[in-house]
Amino acid sequence: MVYDRRTVRPRPLPLALVLAAGLSAQTHSSPGGSTPVDFRRDILPVLADRCFRCHGPDAKARKAKLRLDTFAGATAERDGRRALVPGDPAASAMVARLRHADPSKRMPPARSKQTVTEREIARIEEWIRNGGAYAAHWDDTPPRRSAERRGVEGDLPAARVLGAHRTFHLGGLDLYPASATQTDS
Ligand code: HEC
Repeated sequence: MVYDRRTVRPRPLPLALVLAAGLSAQTHSSPGGSTPVDFRRDILPVLADRCFRCHGPDAKARKAKLRLDTFAGATAERDGRRALVPGDPAASAMVARLRHADPSKRMPPARSKQTVTEREIARIEEWIRNGGAYAAHWDDTPPRRSAERRGVEGDLPAARVLGAHRTFHLGGLDLYPASATQTDS
């Protein structure tokens, strides 16, 4: 076959192809972005805004006895299911509910008037695939600093890690019960 430079001109690769190539090359990469999924930046705000009202620290408001603001709560086995199965988004009930075809099963419930976008769901899946840790991404911090920060934040429930500037319309409630557990692995 003759390669004729005058007629066959190399064209820039479509952006989608470039992104796809980047994704397959980097296991910690995320769909639609070049930066790794970060729990605190990408996942926690979504869960806090759209899930914690019913699956958060307030035991009285909690639905289905499911707590998603702690790693322990999210990974607890319930009737053979777990909301979060680290490393396995397809087995994680929270992903199934976020994508559920039946609107009466989909989370968050329609009556909450809130939705989670396809892009946000894709990030949640990527986060779960990467282990579903309830902590910041420590990979880029020196080990010593990482250990110090772990000591400060590693045992706190997600709400506290998010920072005092955020509230979840749970005024007056104890956001940080001593029973809450969290892990970053
Ligand atoms: C307005 C309250 C409300 C909000 C907000 C809400 N949920 Fe739910 N959730 C419920 C109720 C009620 C149930 C139990 C009924 C059912 O299974 O559909 C439930 C059930 C679930 C279950 C199934 C639990 C099991 O073991 O079967 C999962 C998983 C879940 N929610 C995930 C989420 C996620 C993820 C979010 C945020 C994106 C969310 N929910 C937001 C009310 C809520």
